[in-house]
Amino acid sequence: MQAVGAIPKKKEVGIIDHPMPTLESDDHLIIKSLDVGICGTDREICTFVYGDPPKESDYLVLGHESMGEVQEVGSAVQHLKPGDLVVPSVRRPCVFDYCAPCQAGRQDFCSTGHFVERGIKMSHGFMTEYYSEQEQFLNFVPTSLRDVAVLVEPLTIVEKAMSQVWPTQSRLPWVKHKNANGGPSGKGLNAVVLGAGPVGILGAMKLKAEGFNTFVYSRSKAPNPKSELVESFGVPYISALDTPIEGLLDQVGNIDLVYEAVGVSTIAYQVLSILGLNGIYVFTGIPAPKAPIEVNADTIMRNVVLKNQVVIGTVNADQSSFISAIKDLDVFMQRWPESLKALITKRFSIEDSQSLLLDKASGIKNVISFDA
Ligand code: BGC
Repeated sequence: MQAVGAIPKKKEVGIIDHPMPTLESDDHLIIKSLDVGICGTDREICTFVYGDPPKESDYLVLGHESMGEVQEVGSAVQHLKPGDLVVPSVRRPCVFDYCAPCQAGRQDFCSTGHFVERGIKMSHGFMTEYYSEQEQFLNFVPTSLRDVAVLVEPLTIVEKAMSQVWPTQSRLPWVKHKNANGGPSGKGLNAVVLGAGPVGILGAMKLKAEGFNTFVYSRSKAPNPKSELVESFGVPYISALDTPIEGLLDQVGNIDLVYEAVGVSTIAYQVLSILGLNGIYVFTGIPAPKAPIEVNADTIMRNVVLKNQVVIGTVNADQSSFISAIKDLDVFMQRWPESLKALITKRFSIEDSQSLLLDKASGIKNVISFDA
């Protein structure tokens, strides 16, 4: 069967012949891939600075943003059946029984560092015609989300981020706005999303849906396809080329929340230096290691203390973030169907995978479709 793999020893990327999966145990399922998204991590793995094949393999099958259809179920599978649409999570627990997070199903907080990630770290991914997976790592998706469910995995990043932001900000007991379901609301608070890639745009949708006064701050001059998409769901796009950092403050006011999804440390730290009183800053980007940069460290340190700020990093994601991402995708689909669909630039066949992974990045979210 065909798969897209990276071969570190040969520094090659392309279509490889990969064995058909079998049901490894009673709680496994065979999934037929339908859509697999390509992200910056996949492209970085293809430069061979990141990612590792499984121990027994010379190659790593890529792909961690997947949506597929259940083909076959093991005898102990309880909830899923053939024909169901599913999105798998990425991280798998380490083998150490003293790792409390992994033992509790929170391998996104693995405390040994020996976790495994499908398509990234020591486990094959989903950019293949079929794959096998345990039921506990698969999330059911309604057919109404068929066209956009490949966005679930990148959406889990902001879902997990917010599941940390709200408990952290409950230190401010007077911020008590509630949404219609009784959960916390961003009403009256200002949020800045850094970056207008898929993670940033999905983050902006989530923050807007949660009631924040949301802005996207990104490098490219507007108008451009990303700025137009962001503005199509009512979030102002501010270009860093037109509006330097000081101007950003004039437009936004006190910055209560920054959701960093740009992966570029210069702009990320500049914006950290203008985070507001009692603000919270969430890093999600993973920049490739480069030469050191200058940062205004004294200002940042003074502000963190004098303005009671919190800075957190977050890597995705636990099962509840996948479940809330699927719910939110449905909310976005009701509110902004055209904007949501426009996030997917184009579906390509597996034959195009090499150029999508190696050539200059283009579009917003490119997807390999196995459903031809
Ligand atoms: C994936 C995460 C993964 C991270 C680091 C991201 O692209 O979405 O699941 O933990 O890369 O490997």
